[in-house]
Amino acid sequence: MTDLESLTQRVLSACADLARMSQEPGRITRTFLSPPMRQVHAYLKEWMERLGMSVWVDPIGNLRGYYPANKPTAPRLLLGSHLDTVPNGGAYDGALGVVLAVALLEALGGRRLGFGVEVIGFSEEEGVRFGVPFLGSRALVGRADAALLALKDEQGVSVAQAVRDFGLEPEHVREAALRGEVLGYLEFHIEQGPVLESLEYPLGLVEAIVGQSRLEVGFRGKANHAGTTPMHLRRDALAGAAEWIGLVEREAWGEPGLVATVGQIQALPGAGNVIPGEVRCSLDVRHAFDEVRTRSVAHLITRAQQVAQRRGLELAWEVKLDQGAVPCDPTLLERLEWAVQDCELPVHRMPSGAGHDAMIMAERVPSAMLFLRSPGGLSHHPDERVLPEDVTAALRVGLRWLEILEEHGV
Ligand code: GLV
Ligand code: MN
Ligand code: MN
Repeated sequence: MTDLESLTQRVLSACADLARMSQEPGRITRTFLSPPMRQVHAYLKEWMERLGMSVWVDPIGNLRGYYPANKPTAPRLLLGSHLDTVPNGGAYDGALGVVLAVALLEALGGRRLGFGVEVIGFSEEEGVRFGVPFLGSRALVGRADAALLALKDEQGVSVAQAVRDFGLEPEHVREAALRGEVLGYLEFHIEQGPVLESLEYPLGLVEAIVGQSRLEVGFRGKANHAGTTPMHLRRDALAGAAEWIGLVEREAWGEPGLVATVGQIQALPGAGNVIPGEVRCSLDVRHAFDEVRTRSVAHLITRAQQVAQRRGLELAWEVKLDQGAVPCDPTLLERLEWAVQDCELPVHRMPSGAGHDAMIMAERVPSAMLFLRSPGGLSHHPDERVLPEDVTAALRVGLRWLEILEEHGV
């Protein structure tokens, strides 16, 4: 076995180990600063320290490890991805990018580069616990403000309290922000879609990350007895929400490239013999062009108003995220393309339909992403996988990319 093949096995076994660190037995679920995140930090800290890295957890709960440069005053390159998961998620979305970053430094065999390398395991990217994604990377770009710390989860626990409960100090959240000279940020990530597999390509270069809107939409009617209330006297919030959800799907079918999802719904009071009086739904809308996305969101709200009015319901909505599409950095991408070519692999540039910390990091530093093919195009699912040969390919490309950055700069 070559060194890179045995490192590939190390990457896959680390992803399997992290997948067992879950807040739900038998499922991979790890939300922002949940108890298993401590185990994840301890596991990766031990590995990074063995490579001579200094490791700390910043005040928003990002795990950060620094691999020193070959000279004291050198800029830093950032590598990373996120350590949280969706409920019942897979073992690779996020975790693979962090583990690959550490493995890449291990592959250097102790050699120091002309720049330092910081590995970041972001504390939150999925938006599961607080309905708002990218908590970790927002803090790095200096956007962790009072409003973000005040967000509450379904149990009424704020971000600030969750941070405190984890043993960190939310008052110092600004200290998570990037300082000093940063060359750029690279994120390895599974594609989470079927394109690379259909082309039989192991890797893809991400040119841009599509924009996304996330909203919470509430319908309020009147709870009442399911047996005694005739149909024409009901104000059923769930029946109204269901009608609107059908319109959401139709809107996306009618607009090329648009995807729209209601992935979460809560109906109250939640009993089989009670008409639902109150419903809260999530709405996730994405498109490569921000104008199309924002126009569709406005249209879907108008549709919800029409449904609510006809059914005697009250409507309320809150925009939780309005994140524009983000291009990746052309120079970093070009260097990555050279690395893929030097490894005699096919070059394929593509957009990302999923959101990533890279889209937040791009506000402050040149950012790029390298996708690994997703078998079956599957992600956000426990059957999510990655092929060992693609992990080896990513390590080879990553190593060559570091050499190119040393030779040519960024
Ligand atoms: C993150 O996985 C997203 O929702 O795109
Ligand atoms: Mn994800
Ligand atoms: Mn991800």
